Formats: sequence, C-alpha cells, structure tokens
Amino acid sequence: MRVLVIGSGGREHALAWKIAQSPLLTKLFIAPGNGGTGSVAENLAVDVTDHAAVVALCRQHQIDFVVVGPDAQVVAGLGDDVRAAGFTCFCPSKAAGQLEGSKGFTKALCDEMDIPTAAYGRFNNEASALAYLYTQGAPIVIKADGLAAGKGVTVAMTVEEAEEAIIDCFSGAFGESGAEVVIEEFMEGEEVSLFVLCDGSNILPLTTAQDHKRAFDGDTGPNTGGMGAYSPAPVMTRDIYDETIDRVIWPTVRGLAARGTPYQGVLYAGLMLTEDGPKLVEYNARFGDPETQVMMMRMQSDLLPLLHAVATGTLAGHDVAWKDQFALTVILATEGYPGSYGKGSVITGVQAVNAEHTHVFHAGTRRDGDKLLAWGGRVLNVTALGDSVREAQQRAYAGVDAIDWPEGFCRRDIGWREIARSR
Ligand code: AMP
Ligand code: GLY
Repeated sequence: MRVLVIGSGGREHALAWKIAQSPLLTKLFIAPGNGGTGSVAENLAVDVTDHAAVVALCRQHQIDFVVVGPDAQVVAGLGDDVRAAGFTCFCPSKAAGQLEGSKGFTKALCDEMDIPTAAYGRFNNEASALAYLYTQGAPIVIKADGLAAGKGVTVAMTVEEAEEAIIDCFSGAFGESGAEVVIEEFMEGEEVSLFVLCDGSNILPLTTAQDHKRAFDGDTGPNTGGMGAYSPAPVMTRDIYDETIDRVIWPTVRGLAARGTPYQGVLYAGLMLTEDGPKLVEYNARFGDPETQVMMMRMQSDLLPLLHAVATGTLAGHDVAWKDQFALTVILATEGYPGSYGKGSVITGVQAVNAEHTHVFHAGTRRDGDKLLAWGGRVLNVTALGDSVREAQQRAYAGVDAIDWPEGFCRRDIGWREIARSR
C-alpha cells in the first residue's frame, strides 16, 4: 500500500514512524513533514490548505491511502475532497468533524443524546452572554465556538475575568470563531483523554493518556498545545472507562449515525473525572498531539490496517494490542512559546538519544544540510517506555539532557500526578 500522511507535527511523525513498520506498506510519503520525518517517509512539499494540490499529489504518487493528522484539515473538509477524487482517506467528514469544529454543535448533541457534560448556554451577542454570566457567577468557563488554536477557552475564576473574555470574543479576538460564545459550568476534577477508533457504526477503543497543557511546571503559565503526556492514564479505572464508553462514546456514535453524518475517524474525548462521574469537556476529531507520540510507542499491533478499516467501514472484528508498559513524552519548545519565539537556532545531540526504549519525534524542525534547526513553537518530543511512569519519566529526561539546544525549554514534571498517586 502506498500511503500519504498529511501534517508536519510530532503527531504526524509518530503516525508515520508507526505506519513505516507495517508489512502492508510499500511506500510512505508525508506532506509537508518536518526535519525528522525524512527518516521514515519521503517528505513532499505542498500547501495542505490547497485541497486540489493535495489531490494532485495523490494522483502523481499513485497513493492508495491518505491519513490526515491535523484538526485544521479535518475541519476544513480535506477528507471529503480527497474522497471525492476517488482516494481512500482516514479523516472524518466535514459534517462529523463539527464535533471539534463547533463547541455548540457538540453541546447540542450532548443534549440530544443525554451525554454527561457541563451545563451551558450558547449566545450570539454580548448583551445576552453577559446577562447569563450575571445569573451564574464565577468560577465559569467562556469558550469561543469555533477553532481558535487552543486559545479560545477562558477558565474564569472571577466575574470580571469572564466579562473580559466575553467582550474579547464579541469584539473579534478570534475572528469568526468567536461570533458565537458557549458559557459553561466550571467542572472540578482531573482531566483524562480517551481515544476510540470508529468506522461509522463499530468502535475500537484504543487507550487513555494524560496531557499537560500549561507551559510551566506545577501546571502554571499559559495554555499550550500540550507540553508532555503519558499513557496509559491509570486514573481512568475500569469502571470509569466502562461508564465512559456507555454514556459518552456510544451515544455520540449512534447520534451522529442517526443524523446521517456517521463518524469515521478517531474520537478523542477530553473528559473531566468529577465527583458525579466522567463528563465530556470536549471532543477532538483527530489524534492528540502529543498523546499520539506515547500511544504509538506503546502500540504493538499494526496501525495501518486499523486506520484503513476505519476509512472503509470494516472495523468489526479488529483488535488492538499494547505493550504492557507506560510511555511518557517531554516536549522541548522554543523559548517564548506559546507566545512569540525565534526560528533557526541549532540543535545538536538528537541522534544519540534514540535507543530501544527512547525515541525523539520531531515537530517544528528543519534540516539545513547536516544541521538541525528549530523552526516552530513545539520542536522535539523525547518519548520513552518504562515499566512505571517514573521509569519512563527518568528515561525521557535522560534523553532531554543529552540534547544540546540553549534556546529551548521544557517542563521538568511531566507525569507528576501519576507519580504522586503511586507514592
Ligand atoms: P477545551 O478547548 O474545551 O478542551 O478547553 C481547554 C481546557 O479548558 C480544558 O482542557 C480544561 O482544562 C479547561 N476547561 C474547559 N471546559 C471546562 C469546564 N467546563 N470546567 C473546567 N475546566 C474546563
Ligand atoms: N494535546 C491536545 C490536543 O491534541 O488537542
């Protein structure tokens, strides 16, 4: 099978690395890829927002199967356009991708299917949003409806903070994404992510992971795309898992199928484990970044037939096996991220890190001859396996310490919740 992966992040490097191990693969391409993906796939330069250009690339390279990584391409409907041109594609339809593309869409589905989630109101003007806020008080959560690069959510501890977030949204801080605002009840608890493959009617649950969204140690600083993760997340016990599959995942799959927009892809459920049980925080309609890096390190099965079965509606009967170990990844980011940062600093020492239990996935990197340059916010993902979260953590930080990159930084406490729990 000739496969094309779309994207350029650590998630896509991890997917490509795993697909490259499949006996079903004959040739792997990635577009546009990054400074690390060239070791497992052929990088193809293309503007992935230009769907006609992606289709042309599929024709030129006689691609049998396309795997779309990033949320922006899912929400823009790249999967629909690639399928319309006759190619098999792992990517939810634009209609089903609304699960991630519109918070209001997901909240309405939760209402319809009785899926546990935070109480909410949905508003298209400032006056009505503020009026609702004053009836609810703080803490409270203000969300721009559409995609906002992870910046559209304010967890407001005071009414003043909430007012400011509402005014920002309606004055265009997030463009069209903020034309509608969702105001949610604040949920207290620990967050965990569950990943489930779905082919429209059948599901295959993958595994759990826990991300670390804040930039700095102790979960302080601004929100980022994710500074590190580990998998599995034992905080999700068997009972909580069963309840989540029954009360969150199945109603979502059935609800979307009943609407005539079946979900084919990976469902990434962000959950809050509250005193009243697991509640849905949000859905993403693609794999997590950096959760994919830890999941791929642990996955024993061949990924390629699973993704293909999702895309062709033939997931029934498939199973998935995992290494009986934990994986943990630490993100090295450019100083300044998630704010503004420089590009082009030189990184050395990466090659020496890769070992049987440790692997460096690239995100924002570029090659310049034999030099490796930082070319983004999140740059490298040092990922390790271990028999405990603690062991995986020690190995990952040993890898981090072997890399020489003065312009980079990382959190030093990835995995802290689980390590504290197991003490
Ligand atoms: P979202 O983009 O919806 O995942 O929100 C980003 C982050 O904001 C989540 O990962 C949570 O940490 C936090 N958050 C979102 N909604 C809520 C809520 N209703 N209660 C508490 N925290 C929330
Ligand atoms: N790690 C967060 C995300 O992929 O959205």
